[in-house]
Amino acid sequence: MSKEIVVSGIRSTGYLHLGNYFGAMRNYVKMQDEYNCYFFVADYHSLTTHPEPEHLRENVYRVVAENIACGLDPDKVALYAQSDIPEIPELYLMLNMLAYKGELEKVPTFKDKVRTQPQNVNAGLLTYPVLMTADILIHKGIKVPVGKDQEQHVEMARNFAQRFNGRYGETFPEPYPFNYSNELVKVPSLDGTGKMSKSENVNATLYLADDDDTIRKKVMKAKTDAGPTEHDSEMPDYIQNIFQLLHLVSKHETVETYRSMYNNCTIRYGDMKKQLAEDMVNFIQPIRERATDLQQDHPQLQRIMKLGAEKARESASKTIAEARKKIGINYY
Ligand code: TYM
Repeated sequence: MSKEIVVSGIRSTGYLHLGNYFGAMRNYVKMQDEYNCYFFVADYHSLTTHPEPEHLRENVYRVVAENIACGLDPDKVALYAQSDIPEIPELYLMLNMLAYKGELEKVPTFKDKVRTQPQNVNAGLLTYPVLMTADILIHKGIKVPVGKDQEQHVEMARNFAQRFNGRYGETFPEPYPFNYSNELVKVPSLDGTGKMSKSENVNATLYLADDDDTIRKKVMKAKTDAGPTEHDSEMPDYIQNIFQLLHLVSKHETVETYRSMYNNCTIRYGDMKKQLAEDMVNFIQPIRERATDLQQDHPQLQRIMKLGAEKARESASKTIAEARKKIGINYY
């Protein structure tokens, strides 16, 4: 029986962080043995924020290196740059004819960008979810491992797939967002406001490239208070966040010990943060070291990306031929 198809991507807009790891990459690594996986660097998507060419190139290498440092095996999956697959922009163009201005303008991530970069509200931002749809459908992807923030985009991909099928006949399966734990993950920032991010909240985001001291400093600065005064009281958001991070990198017993100290009002947040900082250092250090070594090795990264692109184009060329035929663009 053929394996189910998995597709997911990461934008090349900066160093990867714990949110990317727990929302996406941890799933990728687990999925590579069970599924037919296509993982890519979404370099076209990152053009929506106008990066400098030099930064873009280094960021793409870095994302590939970090994926491998986290455990992806380029022999098991197709690991490639989005821009190496010309069939993706072709499918994007076709899908754009089925996507309506009104629905695209309502997407919360688009509205956010209109607010945060009013000087650069380009058409690529508006059609961002259409390009994502093309990324997924080009391989007829079904499971899409992503964090909570991408949930709505994947739902749109589902709608666009239905729309294409409705108009041109059954072509694409309907993709859905995936996480092994059943619930999609949102890794909070350390200051309790919003989520960890590649480009915002830099001091409250833990990057896979952070050195040990930076990790310790960031964790120790995480917001806390004087502690609970009543047994079993409700946890404020920012304390819940620290517990959530502890849960991600520490032993189960450690989390339970601090949870019972919280419940009986004996918790010392300073100790808890020290524990979190050490567990975080132990988690991030080996990934950082592997990624830094690999990032220097451009020939090796280029070999990996070429191999990935070959695998991805094999699948993409079949899909695009089928889509052209369904639409009626097959004259010879
Ligand atoms: P990007 O590059 O912003 O993020 C990459 C992956 O990391 C997840 N993520 C998080 N998960 C949990 N908590 C957080 N704080 C957090 N921050 C980021 C994201 O959900 C994502 O899974 N548009 C996508 C890239 C993309 C894509 C695709 C994804 C392009 N085409 C097709 C899937 C399928 C993006 O900007 O992700």
